[in-house]
Amino acid sequence: MAAAEKTLLVDCDTGVDDAIALLYLLADPKVEVCGITTVFGNISATMAARNTLCVLDVAGRTGSVPVAVGSEVTLTGEAPVHGTHVHGSNGLGGVKLSAPAGRPETVSAAEMIVRTARERPGKVHMLATGPLTNLAVALRLEPKLPQLIAGVTIMGGAASAPGNVTPAAEANVWHDPEAAQAVFSAPWATTLVPLDATMGEVMSEQQRLSLAASRSPTARFAAAILDHYFDFYTPIFGRRSCPCHDALAAGVATGEVVPQRAMTVGITVETGCGPARGATICDLRGSYRGEQRQPGATCTVVLETSGRFAEDIVRRLVGGPGA
Ligand code: BDR
Ligand code: CA
Repeated sequence: MAAAEKTLLVDCDTGVDDAIALLYLLADPKVEVCGITTVFGNISATMAARNTLCVLDVAGRTGSVPVAVGSEVTLTGEAPVHGTHVHGSNGLGGVKLSAPAGRPETVSAAEMIVRTARERPGKVHMLATGPLTNLAVALRLEPKLPQLIAGVTIMGGAASAPGNVTPAAEANVWHDPEAAQAVFSAPWATTLVPLDATMGEVMSEQQRLSLAASRSPTARFAAAILDHYFDFYTPIFGRRSCPCHDALAAGVATGEVVPQRAMTVGITVETGCGPARGATICDLRGSYRGEQRQPGATCTVVLETSGRFAEDIVRRLVGGPGA
């Protein structure tokens, strides 16, 4: 097999779209997923790890990727609010799962992030598709982390788009605004894939049914876990469909998705207790002058992608193991 072109350490709260993102990455021969860490969010970090291990089994990758459990509470110690109404009681659409063959590592998520970054300085790229608590804890453990990590791609926030938990806030940032603020203010190259982009990448019921009809067990598993997720999004879009939030961030992280519109700007997270708590305030004022980059900024905000990414996901999963 050819050497992987990108090494990714994925931090996620394995609900439905995180699982799709993982399956998408695990089926890419150009990507090495060198570790997966889990965080509370859609469900508990412990259940997210269990779901991740199940996803590895489905992908035929049992035991090949270390999994570590991370934070169950916010950076400030607040109790979590889980998103089971979106992702189902077990985080994977309520689909009955066999017990996973693998087990999580004994190190914590933040320790695994720091250890991996130290072992392979400058080589590992992080993809975060859940609340940013583990990354914020890792930054506390190793303040030089931004110099050790090649870059960070994050699914989260809303630049000009409406929020999805409140009118102002997107779920991953809303779950732990203090952690998000710590991550956005760290001096690393960050790419944010917010709702502005992800709500424009929609999978149709026809595409889900083509996954269900596939010979690939990976594709059929994806179709099954997506069923409940489609139910949640049906009243939002007015038709059976769902956005490809976390998989889009995965595609951006690997370079397979090239943004059609992006700006490199400062980001501040609202951490007050008012109605805008968890809002990501992206300084897009340069757009009035046609500027794409704010001097000194290190965070690139993806504002628009092609709108055709679901086709790539379907093609990848239908061609997956066992097809
Ligand atoms: C994000 O929140 C979670 O529900 C999804 O997994 C995704 O990471 C979308 O706002
Ligand atoms: Ca997620």
